[in-house]
Amino acid sequence: MAGGWLPVWWTLLLVLASMAGEAVGRFVVEKNSLRVTSPPGLRGVYECAIGNFGMPQYGGTMHGVVIYPKSNMKACKGFDDFDLSFKPKPGGLPVFLLVDRGDCYFTTKGWNAQSAGAAAVLVADDKLEPLITMDSPESSGTDYIENITVPSALVTKKFGDDLKKALENGDMVNVLLDWRESLPHPDERVEYEFWTNSNDECGAKCDMQMNFVRNFRGTAQVLEKRGYTQFTPHYITWYCPEAFVLSQQCKSQCINHGRYCAPDPEQDFDIGYDGKDVVVQNLIQICLFRVANETGKPWVWWDYVHDFAIRCPMREKKYTRDCANGVIKSLGLDIEKINRCVGDPAADEENPVLKAEQDAQIGRGTRGDVTILPTLVVNDKQYRGKLEKSAVLRAVCSGFEETTEPDVCLSEAIQTNQCLENNGGCWMDNANNFTACKDTFRGRVCECPLVHGVKFAGDGYTHCEASGVGRCQINNGGCWKEARNEKTFSACSHEVSEGCKCPPGFKGDGIKICEDIDECKEKLSCQCKECTCDNTWGSYECSCGGSNMLYIREHDTCITKSSTSSLGWTFLWIIFLGLALAGVGAYAVYKYRLRSYMDSEIRTIMAQYMPLDNQETPNQHRPVEHADI
Ligand SMILES: *[C@@H]1O[C@H](CO)[C@@H](O)[C@H](O)[C@H]1NC(C)=O
Ligand SMILES: *[C@@H]1O[C@H](CO)[C@@H](O)[C@H](O)[C@H]1NC(C)=O
Ligand SMILES: *[C@@H]1O[C@H](CO)[C@@H](O)[C@H](O)[C@H]1NC(C)=O
Repeated sequence: MAGGWLPVWWTLLLVLASMAGEAVGRFVVEKNSLRVTSPPGLRGVYECAIGNFGMPQYGGTMHGVVIYPKSNMKACKGFDDFDLSFKPKPGGLPVFLLVDRGDCYFTTKGWNAQSAGAAAVLVADDKLEPLITMDSPESSGTDYIENITVPSALVTKKFGDDLKKALENGDMVNVLLDWRESLPHPDERVEYEFWTNSNDECGAKCDMQMNFVRNFRGTAQVLEKRGYTQFTPHYITWYCPEAFVLSQQCKSQCINHGRYCAPDPEQDFDIGYDGKDVVVQNLIQICLFRVANETGKPWVWWDYVHDFAIRCPMREKKYTRDCANGVIKSLGLDIEKINRCVGDPAADEENPVLKAEQDAQIGRGTRGDVTILPTLVVNDKQYRGKLEKSAVLRAVCSGFEETTEPDVCLSEAIQTNQCLENNGGCWMDNANNFTACKDTFRGRVCECPLVHGVKFAGDGYTHCEASGVGRCQINNGGCWKEARNEKTFSACSHEVSEGCKCPPGFKGDGIKICEDIDECKEKLSCQCKECTCDNTWGSYECSCGGSNMLYIREHDTCITKSSTSSLGWTFLWIIFLGLALAGVGAYAVYKYRLRSYMDSEIRTIMAQYMPLDNQETPNQHRPVEHADI
């Protein structure tokens, strides 16, 4: 059993359903794995038990080197007193401090290790036994527990001894702590339960619960509303052994004739509220959840629990049914329905709702009995570690099948900051500040980014480039682009496969450089005898000698009267002028003659060039069009 989990009020007769009768309590020690990568003699994968304090990195891993302190091996004192520090040197691996079990709380060891700069604490058991769960104590003067952020793990005595031996030999012990398989992550919805209690006067644990509800509420509600999670709250109840049902103790701590009990909040029957008041409030909270769930709004439970703790605290003597009803009303829930569900606490009969809670307490499947309060269960496995927003969110997130986790899992709140150093080893465009490093709860991933709606493609490590439609909008797709005299040329093509290609009239790699091609000098165009070549940026101009010649770009040639036929443009112009002079009478003659001139050669050439010339110089062709009619 876990050290220190047995409640003090155990002595007050009450029995946990999960401990009843023949059903022997089954507590499951939740584990993560520890892989030794060096020295070779120790290489392998070992199990360790996740401590119920600090922050296990659910879904993730941590690399480090093991150090065993020369003194203060049990870490019961601060390491400052011994002039020891375990802060890694720049560029060095984080330190996992190995300490011995015994003499003080596990949490004290964890806190001292963390304060000395260790990144995790490994506690070596001091006896040969199966792994146990290291829990946090329920005593005063342990405020530091809230501040423990390093993960903690218990290792067996045997393995602890092996580690120490290797260190004694001067070996460097490299290990990987791995929580990736600590929780099942089968699909795209996470089912989780929170085993809690409405009692608000139980010291640090109750404060922690309330802080958790306050901080996690918003996230829990968003996850639930969007269908990412199915959350169910649960309440532990005890029962009174038959023989004591009529005793004063059971009467003040139980309802329904000793069937459902809770320990007295003050552990004093004469003052303050009794256990039975707590059971009734717990019952109201379960019933509220059921009614809210029926109306399709299970997340209202978070509002109720949050508001109730603020509006109806024990210390203000407001922990009453009346006060609870006020909160229910303000949330707009059906109070009659909730009252029917609560039933008559004085009646000697079963309450189906509380009966179901007692049954659920008993472990099933992979879960194990619920005996630590509060307890969080994620995908049917108990969560271990601090009850704190980011630690719990990390655990919930690790319960999603990889890549189906919602955005909130990739947010800053639970990032690992692995991108801060060397950009996590991922691709980066320094000039534009684009990076492929994404900080997630699973550790960093190198994934080409999405910038202003444009997806980058590549391996994420050495190479990413804008892709798809719109790629040219981002940094011109990484291609050359230049503007001169109101003319702009770009080497970016929207077809990704084409990459960067200099536009016609330019040559170069398309990325950094595209140079104008001097078509004249390089004798690429405008090579006819009569031509005059004039290079321009990105193009050239070619004119043919004499005003009666036309340059045909595609064929890089000039056509003149003589080169087309003996009846060229000039002749047509003469005809036209002749027509103008001859008037209507000459019209028939003109038509007749034109037809005869349009021999097959002219027709072919005109058919080829008309569309082009048509747009640029329509007037020149009016005679031809006209002639066709
Ligand atoms: C824990 O952290 C809080 C806030 O960060 C701080 O005020 C408090 O002093 C810390 N407690 C200890 C024991 O260091
Ligand atoms: C809440 O409602 C869902 C769906 O309507 C159902 O599957 C689930 O069992 C309900 N939970 C409880 C505790 O009634
Ligand atoms: C780059 O972007 C990050 C976050 O997007 C920002 O924190 C950082 O200051 C930027 N750096 C530069 C040089 O713009």
